[in-house]
Amino acid sequence: MAKHQKIIIAIDGFAATGKSSIAKRLSNSLNYIHIDSGSMYRAATLFALRLDSKNKLNPKKIIQSLSEIKIEFKTIKEKQLIFLNNENVSYEIRKPYVTNQVSKLAKIPELRSYLVKKQKEFGKNKGIIMDGRDIGTIVFPEAECKFFLVANVEVRAKRRYFEQQSKDNKETYEKVLKSLIKRDKLDTDRISSPLMKAKGALKIDVSDLTLDEVYDKMLSYIKKKLNKH
Ligand code: CDP
Repeated sequence: MAKHQKIIIAIDGFAATGKSSIAKRLSNSLNYIHIDSGSMYRAATLFALRLDSKNKLNPKKIIQSLSEIKIEFKTIKEKQLIFLNNENVSYEIRKPYVTNQVSKLAKIPELRSYLVKKQKEFGKNKGIIMDGRDIGTIVFPEAECKFFLVANVEVRAKRRYFEQQSKDNKETYEKVLKSLIKRDKLDTDRISSPLMKAKGALKIDVSDLTLDEVYDKMLSYIKKKLNKH
């Protein structure tokens, strides 16, 4: 790809719309950094669950312990891994017991500010694609290119269900669907940085599109934006 000035690309959207997979592919094509902000909320949730012997979230305790949460990304053998206090937690954070608690923790404004500060630091030299729920609205409102991905909840549940089949932490389709509906509601209804389309974001309904089709659509939109910079 021709040399352009680096920009910030923000991808927001509902769970299991393919945000992270597409962001990863786009970052390879553009030679940009990719940060999956959801994995940071997941790592913080794992930290919070471990604070309590019964794995219960205690917001007061979490707020007091924020400075003990050290999250880092490292690329090892071309795979991006996430480390929580020097432990590789990339696999653990995808397990249902974390997934089903993360939106509760993501409501805590103090935790959000703590993570948003770190996310902003990743973007200080631009050349970044970040995906999440509040990237175009709160983390990088100045992003030159913004997307908002939506899809029918059954399509998303099927996608997540099939993804889980290759792993040892499977849930039934009904459980996956229920968990997505609950998470969507918590993410859109929360007071602190709710999930919503950022001003100027391109909304894409991915329900009837393959990941390749979504990727092509997004890449051509990004190229248009790059030509303006
Ligand atoms: O991969 P999936 O779409 O299932 O979710 P994720 O991107 O890993 O995010 C997990 C959860 O973290 C979301 O359901 C939100 O509750 C929270 N999150 C958030 O509040 N803000 C972000 N920027 C990213 C994730």
